[in-house]
This record gives sequence, structure tokens and C-alpha cells, in this order.
Amino acid sequence: MRNGDWKHIWITGASSGLGEHTARLLAEQGYQVSISARSADKLDAIANGFENVTVYPADVTDADALKRTVAEAEAAHGSIDLALFCAGAWFQSSVKNMNTENFSKTLDVNVMGVVNALDAVLPQMFSRKAGHVAWVSSVAGYGGLPNAASYGSSKAALINMAESMKPELNREGITVSVVNPGFVRTPMTDKNKFPMPFIMEPEDAARAIVSGLRRKKFEVAFPWQLVTILKFLNRLPYWLYFALVKRTL
Ligand SMILES: NC(=O)c1ccc[n+]([C@@H]2O[C@H](COP(=O)([O-])OP(=O)(O)OC[C@H]3O[C@@H](n4cnc5c(N)ncnc54)[C@H](OP(=O)(O)O)[C@@H]3O)[C@@H](O)[C@H]2O)c1
Repeated sequence: MRNGDWKHIWITGASSGLGEHTARLLAEQGYQVSISARSADKLDAIANGFENVTVYPADVTDADALKRTVAEAEAAHGSIDLALFCAGAWFQSSVKNMNTENFSKTLDVNVMGVVNALDAVLPQMFSRKAGHVAWVSSVAGYGGLPNAASYGSSKAALINMAESMKPELNREGITVSVVNPGFVRTPMTDKNKFPMPFIMEPEDAARAIVSGLRRKKFEVAFPWQLVTILKFLNRLPYWLYFALVKRTL
């Protein structure tokens, strides 16, 4: 096997942004990549450029569809060695104009989407006592930030979930990683009207993800400037934390 001990990689949320660029990078490096998202046309366009990319359209909120996807992908290409879950949704959410539908959708896609994908891929990894699962959270999950109650709470849940699952997964021979990006230029952030400090290009973010996963890091976080600032802010006493973050309102 090549570096990273993977042959067959499954990526959700691979039709655009981080998932697409990571899928392209891994495919260029010669791995067998199975890609999922809802937009079959976009997935097909990505796969057209490669012989080693196969398309499995699926909605991550549909647990049965993900189980079928994993069964089909493993029947065609063998065990999935690395499963990377990038599917995500983001809606800016002020408290005054709280949209419960968007709140629910965010938690469903971001949190239950990862749970459903884990449920589809982990049984085979448990029986092989091998494998690597990784999901994309965000630096927005480190602590509550204004106008991001739904997104931030979904991402905090994903970080907590990774911390909670790591000891048991490691005991079973399975590696787990949580990816915490800052701002990356993708269709998700293209709609943002606010300043996005230290924003990265998706190609650079994909390289950071692959490099961190290859080293089997538990947390893959970038860019270091924003990660350092937010980790520092979250160590402050609440009175000082809120005095500083309210300026971003
Ligand atoms: N961009 C950033 O600055 C940034 C920062 C931190 C974390 N993140 C996280 O990185 C991940 C990727 O985001 P991105 O920036 O690359 O955004 P993006 O370009 O909008 O990509 C989101 C992906 O998720 C898929 N998706 C959405 N809902 C889905 C569903 N119900 N079922 C299956 N797939 C679904 C989309 O495909 P379809 O619409 O075709 O289904 C698309 O492939 C997300 O988890 C996001 O929260 C992004």
C-alpha cells in the first residue's frame, strides 16, 4: 500500500468545495476514490477526468442510501480504508430571526449525516480491525460565535463526537481524525458578506487535509493563524471572551 495505508477512499460532500478538491487530489495521487453527494451531474463531471473515480450519488440524511453506497463501493473496489465526510450545510442564523427549519437541516446534514455515514462504514472496519474515518468539522466548533448558533453547535458536536469515539475506535484498530478548517473559498463561503480572515484556496486546504490524514493526526486544523487565535480566545474567562467576540456582531 502507498503512504497513508489506503487503497480505496470514500468521500461524501465531494461534488464541490473541500470534498471535490480533496477527491481530485487523492485521485491524482492514484488512489481509488468513491465520491458521493446529491448532485450526480457534478460528481459525473469530476469522475470524467479520472479512471480511478467512481460516482455514488447519495443524500447523507438517508441512512439506507449510505449503507447501499458502501455495499456497492466495497463490492466494486474492495474495503474502504479511508472514509472522509465533507458533506455540510451552513446558514447564517441570528437569534431574532431564528429559522427552525434551517436549524434542523443544519443539524441533520452536519451531525446526523456523519453519524449515518459512520453507521454505514464502521461495521466492516470493526470486523477487519482496520480503517480510518475522518470528518470535517470547523474552527467554528471551538466556541460559540455570533450569528452561527446552528452551524457552530453542529460543528461543536462533531468535535465532541470525535473525542468521544477516539479511544474505542483506536482500541479496535481504527484511526479517527477531525478536520477543523478556518475559511476556505468554496461555494459555501462565496455567499458570505462578512470579512473572512486568512481565507485559503480550496487546493491548499485539500493539501493540508491529505497531509494531516496521511500522518494520522487526530486534529487536522488550518490555517494556523486563525486556529491559534480561536484556540486562545476559547481559553479565556467568559467575561473576556464575550467582550472580544461581541465586536464581530
Ligand atoms: N468553506 C469553509 O470555509 C469551511 C470552513 C470550515 C468547515 N467547512 C466544512 O467543510 C465541508 C465542505 O464545505 P465546503 O466549504 O466545501 O462547501 P460546499 O462547496 O458547499 O460543499 C458542500 C458539499 O456537501 C454536499 N451536501 C450538502 N448537503 C448534502 C446532503 N444532504 N447529502 C449529501 N451531500 C450533501 C454538497 O453536495 P450536493 O449539494 O451535491 O449534495 C457539497 O458537495 C462542510 O462540512 C463545511 O461545513 C467549510
